[in-house]
Amino acid sequence: MNNSKTWSGRFNEPVSELVKKYTGSIDFDKRLAKWDIQGSLAHAEMLRQAEVLSDEDVANIQQGMAEILKEIESGTMPWSLDLEDVHMNIERRLTDKIGDAGKRLHTGRSRNDQVATDIRLWLRDEINEIRSLIQALQAALLDLAEQHADTVMPGFTHLQVAQPVSFGHHMLAYVEMLGRDDERMADCRKRVNRMPLGSAALAGTTYPIQRETTARLLKFEQICQNSLDAVSDRDFAIEFTAAASLLMVHLSRLSEELILWISPRFGFIDIADRFCTGSSIMPQKKNPDVPELVRGKSGRVIGHLTALIMLMKSQPLAYNKDNQEDKEPLFDTVDTLVDTLRIYADMVRGITVKPENMRAAVMQGFATATDLADYLVKKGMPFRDSHEVVALAVRHADEQEMDLSELPLDKLRSFSDLIEEDVYQVLTPEGSLNARNHLGGTAPEQVRLQVARWRELLAN
Ligand code: ARG
Repeated sequence: MNNSKTWSGRFNEPVSELVKKYTGSIDFDKRLAKWDIQGSLAHAEMLRQAEVLSDEDVANIQQGMAEILKEIESGTMPWSLDLEDVHMNIERRLTDKIGDAGKRLHTGRSRNDQVATDIRLWLRDEINEIRSLIQALQAALLDLAEQHADTVMPGFTHLQVAQPVSFGHHMLAYVEMLGRDDERMADCRKRVNRMPLGSAALAGTTYPIQRETTARLLKFEQICQNSLDAVSDRDFAIEFTAAASLLMVHLSRLSEELILWISPRFGFIDIADRFCTGSSIMPQKKNPDVPELVRGKSGRVIGHLTALIMLMKSQPLAYNKDNQEDKEPLFDTVDTLVDTLRIYADMVRGITVKPENMRAAVMQGFATATDLADYLVKKGMPFRDSHEVVALAVRHADEQEMDLSELPLDKLRSFSDLIEEDVYQVLTPEGSLNARNHLGGTAPEQVRLQVARWRELLAN
């Protein structure tokens, strides 16, 4: 067979250059090479045990693959678009090196089960990496939360000052989100970790294959139980990209907050200069490029989710070439996620908190009004009445341009004679924080308990 394409014996004319480029995937799928070789070696070993391939053939295949792996690592592997994709490039290289044994490797296999296996093997490894990066980011946030368990900042609803919260508590909110992201990754990995190999093109194969053997060699937890499903399904990739999208949405929200807080209008924090750039025209500018890009890149990952889910929709069973389009969105999702997580942990470690500015902002928004209402309730007033009393007090303080805690006692008592000297304990931001000392509340003591809980979880 001297045709360059493995399957071209059937054709009278070669494909045009444009079609070759259009249908080829080697430019992007060569990054699966390492996992393609892993899969091939396991397949060959299984065929040897099943006495489909001889010991000698398999020894040659192992030798040839070891050489190819070295060529790939050193950048000397000759990749060719004529050979369409990573699978045929490697197989041809093997055959060039070891002859007929290389041509026997594909026995009982198709590129359809091969590619599905490769992606799963690759993604399984990437999920491990992503999970450890999520946990490293959580650890960075925990350090910040611990340092600032007692730091008061305004908590917002509707982006209006609502109630004082601990800055540490605010950071812990993101630790929780990331914890669920990590859970989703772990859960999705279970469904990634199933082996399509052995399904061949779509219907299985006539050779006496032992799929359990291949699965064991490749450390797959389960084996795909239906050959048609195994070669055509990409829901594991969609699921992964959905989990990735949620993770990026969480980081986008945090980024939006960092951007606001860095703005001198807020002045709550600073981030290290290495995450910012200047303006080419405005000499005073320090722009938070990194969080802005994270916010922007979340859209990119969500776009990949949309691409993958649209790709799957309406595909009849079993494999269709459409599925070749799964790779670029998936690869870019992983690359974006890995880079974002790496840079983020470093950026969080470079955050400087400005507690005085946060406290000043708390003092401007009547953040302890609810505390005063609760105080009156504890002294016997029904909540609806206390709500009204406090509203009047806030109105007065606003006119005087004072915080509630700055009003003298006799003034406060003019709104309700239930108010006594001890009211000042609840009117301060610190008093407000300490009063919310229950599971999930913002009291510094609770923040420290949560930090300890998460540290223990991460250690296991
Ligand atoms: N490059 C192809 C892909 O990524 C490999 C499978 C090709 N199979 C086929 N029947 N043409 O999906």
